[in-house]
Amino acid sequence: MVVAAQNQRKRVEVRPDRSTKAYQDFLLGAKLFWTRQMYSALHKEYQDKVKARGGKEPETYAETEKMMQGPLYSFFGWFERHIQRLKYSDKYYGLVAAVNRQRSELLEALENLPPSKFLKLNPDIEFPHYYKAVDFHQHPGGVAGDELAGFVYEYARKTTTPLHIHEDDIHFRLAKAVPKGDYKRILDFGCGVGKSTYPFKDLYPEAEVHGCDISAPCLKVAYLRALESGREIYYSQENMEKTSYPDEYFDLIHTTFIQHEFPLKALEKITREAFRLLKPGGLYVNLDFHSAPGGVFGKFCYFGHSKRNNEVFMRAFHDFDYLGLLRKVGFKSAEMLPFDDGTGIVAQNEVPKAWRFPWQLFISRK
Ligand SMILES: C[S@@+](CC[C@H](N)C(=O)[O-])C[C@H]1O[C@@H](n2cnc3c(N)ncnc32)[C@H](O)[C@@H]1O
Repeated sequence: MVVAAQNQRKRVEVRPDRSTKAYQDFLLGAKLFWTRQMYSALHKEYQDKVKARGGKEPETYAETEKMMQGPLYSFFGWFERHIQRLKYSDKYYGLVAAVNRQRSELLEALENLPPSKFLKLNPDIEFPHYYKAVDFHQHPGGVAGDELAGFVYEYARKTTTPLHIHEDDIHFRLAKAVPKGDYKRILDFGCGVGKSTYPFKDLYPEAEVHGCDISAPCLKVAYLRALESGREIYYSQENMEKTSYPDEYFDLIHTTFIQHEFPLKALEKITREAFRLLKPGGLYVNLDFHSAPGGVFGKFCYFGHSKRNNEVFMRAFHDFDYLGLLRKVGFKSAEMLPFDDGTGIVAQNEVPKAWRFPWQLFISRK
């Protein structure tokens, strides 16, 4: 149910000053240039180098990296790593600095959130080692390392996928791509700041929609956004490896942008937990990155991205038999489908025209 408009609040958000906005916009432009022109130039150079070797493509990532050594690849890699780094960490115009300039206002908004059944926090939660040890996608301290990390993450998403018309579009696309059903209870497993949760509430307004995450700073922003927009969504601080929800509670569980952040042992625990939480016949849906299209060149770009962007488990997930795990855990059916992120569907043997994540949609039924 959507609550009455008079209960809605004024939006509290990060408002970068003029110079910071200009800087962040410049980085977005630079990322677009990297995504299209630099990537295409790198692909052209790859083709030229293969031609010069008599048409013999390299066989491994290491061999490809060696073949591609040179100014263009160095520049390409430097751009990719440092645009992201500057976006967060520039001393004056980075997002962390921008959020810190608004620190008291933003903290006050989170501290004054009304106590409610819609936000359940667990101050005693234990963070897994892999979670604390890595600053995924170069977010300093990660998405739970500071009380305002949720605001930083929310703003940062504007430049993660620069070809998308809006950073939330991908989440609406997922909600629409899930086979329609009479879902009474839906869980966004690893919901972050709720960007991947609210499209499901909009599509299934009568459903009881939940989102869980281990990061309290993210959940607080998710809850704040739900209050501001008048959406009733239940948020709870949980470790996805073992949550407090009862057995067979949900009809649909979905994840976005997350499987690639787990070491494989944790991924197995999380997959088993999703199975426990689903009703028989329930659906488990994952939108994530796997099986990069475009042969050796596709893998070369994607594995390089994982290295340059602190995505330490990305490569292991890419090569992992995830469908095999889903079946081993007990799902009756599990399939991997191509997904249109708004830039079209890319065939497995096709090199994408511009850089993009290797999106795949996993749909499994208990
Ligand atoms: C890249 S974000 C994606 C968030 C959201 N699904 C989205 O698409 O915007 C990954 C999220 O997974 C959460 N996460 C990572 N490991 C977790 C765990 N073991 N239990 C719960 N949440 C976890 C992080 O806190 C983070 O919010």
